[in-house]
Amino acid sequence: MAKTIAFHLQKGGVGKTTISGTLACQSAMDGFKTILIDVDPQGNASSWFLKDSPRYEFADVIQGKCYIKDAIVPVPTVENLFILPTFGINGSLKNYSETKLAEEPFVIQDAVTEIKKEFPHIILDLSPGLGRLERSALIASDEVITPMTPEVFSLDGLEIFIDELAKIKKNFRVNIKHKNIIINSYDERIRQHREIFRAASEGNFNIFRIPVDPVFRKSQEAQKAPQMFRQSGRGLKPKTLEAINELESIIWR
Ligand SMILES: Nc1ncnc2c1ncn2[C@@H]1O[C@H](COP(=O)(O)OP(=O)(O)OP(=O)(O)O)[C@@H](O)[C@H]1O
Ligand SMILES: [Mg+2]
Repeated sequence: MAKTIAFHLQKGGVGKTTISGTLACQSAMDGFKTILIDVDPQGNASSWFLKDSPRYEFADVIQGKCYIKDAIVPVPTVENLFILPTFGINGSLKNYSETKLAEEPFVIQDAVTEIKKEFPHIILDLSPGLGRLERSALIASDEVITPMTPEVFSLDGLEIFIDELAKIKKNFRVNIKHKNIIINSYDERIRQHREIFRAASEGNFNIFRIPVDPVFRKSQEAQKAPQMFRQSGRGLKPKTLEAINELESIIWR
């Protein structure tokens, strides 16, 4: 059965795009037809994976300005990976989410239902915040995975997110699983990181740790999958690959 996973925490810069993009690549590299939907008006996931500007964007799909199939583009460097892009510059997602989306909160859910007929693995990269756009994306998802950085503010952010998610589930009468948390940019040698890990482990979550790895940023600059990126013969750290493989093996169950 097809599954839709959103990566979200309302806090900015915690690794939502990096992790959702990397796991989308991994899913595709493992042979699953995978789509990454760029639900962030910043369009970071799209500029990471696409060199040329596409004709249509995700906002065109949800506004009924084009067919879904016409807006989906293959990622040239990763077989089986497709993207439903958002234009970071001159895109209409931000404007749409601040105006019309209020009247149609299920519009993303409707698009995802269609996409599920073609794609068994669907990943949503969300923008920071918890406004209409993020809510609509969450109610379109079967599961949300929360990336956070090992800092106290992220831990506070997680508490707020748990609370808000409960309200969204109640108000929209949807069931969204939330059982996996990723502590990103984790360094075992730093005491504060270990303490954050311990504190996060007190909840009822599976906690994954992804180390600081400069290959993420470099692969984004090179517009490549991090798993395929090499510089002086070096790619992602073994610990990073281990975490990605572990995550990939459980999230689609
Ligand atoms: N594990 C990591 N090691 C090193 N750098 C990382 C790691 N994860 C993310 N980064 C870098 O941190 C920056 C922020 O990451 P990213 O854009 O994925 O965060 P985000 O949560 O999507 O941000 P936003 O809230 O703006 O959408 C990027 O430059 C990315 O390359
Ligand atoms: Mg992002």
